[in-house]
Amino acid sequence: MTPGEQPAPLSATPGAAAPPVIDVRNLVKRFGDKTVVDQVTMQVAKGEISGFLGPNGSGKTTTIRCMCGLLSADEGEGRVLGYDIRSEAWKIKRETGYMTQRFSFYEDLSIRENLQFVARLYGLEACAVADTLEDLGLSSRRNQLAGTLSGGWKQRLALAACIMHKPELLLLDEPTAGVDPKARRDFWDEIHARAASGLTVLVSTHYMDEAERCHRINYISYGRLVASGTVAQVLASAGLTTFIVEGGRLDRVARHLAGAPGVDQIAPFGMTLHVVGREKQALERSVRAAAKEFSVSVEKGETSLEDVFIQFMAEASDNMAEPASTPQKGTAA
Ligand SMILES: Nc1ncnc2c1ncn2[C@@H]1O[C@H](COP(=O)(O)OP(=O)(O)OP(=O)(O)O)[C@@H](O)[C@H]1O
Ligand SMILES: [Mg+2]
Repeated sequence: MTPGEQPAPLSATPGAAAPPVIDVRNLVKRFGDKTVVDQVTMQVAKGEISGFLGPNGSGKTTTIRCMCGLLSADEGEGRVLGYDIRSEAWKIKRETGYMTQRFSFYEDLSIRENLQFVARLYGLEACAVADTLEDLGLSSRRNQLAGTLSGGWKQRLALAACIMHKPELLLLDEPTAGVDPKARRDFWDEIHARAASGLTVLVSTHYMDEAERCHRINYISYGRLVASGTVAQVLASAGLTTFIVEGGRLDRVARHLAGAPGVDQIAPFGMTLHVVGREKQALERSVRAAAKEFSVSVEKGETSLEDVFIQFMAEASDNMAEPASTPQKGTAA
């Protein structure tokens, strides 16, 4: 996909017949003279879990906030849950559960008190808190102050608070950052179970295994959406080839291959070296020549999602970077 080109329209998966729950087009958001969301078009079908990936500062949180009406986009249009993102933002907020990137509950209130507070904000029946505590397995800790919870329990409280009002759409912004693998597995099982009953989820993450658990993924690179589709589609469209080198002195092999024709990435993985590139023939020639010279073995490997994202990052430039000639604050001119 060339810069500026938008991803192909979705052939939606789970709720193909229904109109998309998220349907936004050409969203633009600027902060000062920096465009941090640049013509983003995205659709998420009902019951779909859609992953949102991209490097730090690439615009995921800003896009999510534009979708749920917490920020007003400078350009673009769209509907979320059938409501216009500009004129009906309050309706979107009411029917959406938004889990913020940073824990945003009262640390000096207990789990139960935090949920009671949220329940009152939404005008929910008192039983909603008890039901949610039970439903999310929080009952045993209901009287513990939120500030004393470990990361995994905080995440469970945050999820409980954003699903208590039974939203149709969940916007989850890095919900599992810093959470252990078992708690992440439980979290994803919970999300999949709810999606199977019709809940729609847009979830940002930096974890590759989580990306692979999504029905679809969207990759944003410094404001621009550069890939969208199933994991298999994104892998295929990247057009990368991977070779795995195994043997002794891999550090020397890596140094030898750096900058060789066809070689775009070299990464050590345990006792092997993954060598990745777009130009398959040139890459293969370089890798086979190195294998001969250093007496190491080479075999074709599977390209991973991480390889694809590293490639995207290498091809992008940071839209927030200061121009090279501009002196930095606090540095001598
Ligand atoms: N209120 C703001 N004012 C000015 N710049 C902002 C503001 N909010 C975000 N930005 C900038 O917009 C860009 C996108 O930020 P955003 O938080 O959306 O990225 P992100 O993809 O969510 O990153 P991360 O993975 O680190 O959470 C960043 O360069 C950030 O510094
Ligand atoms: Mg963010």
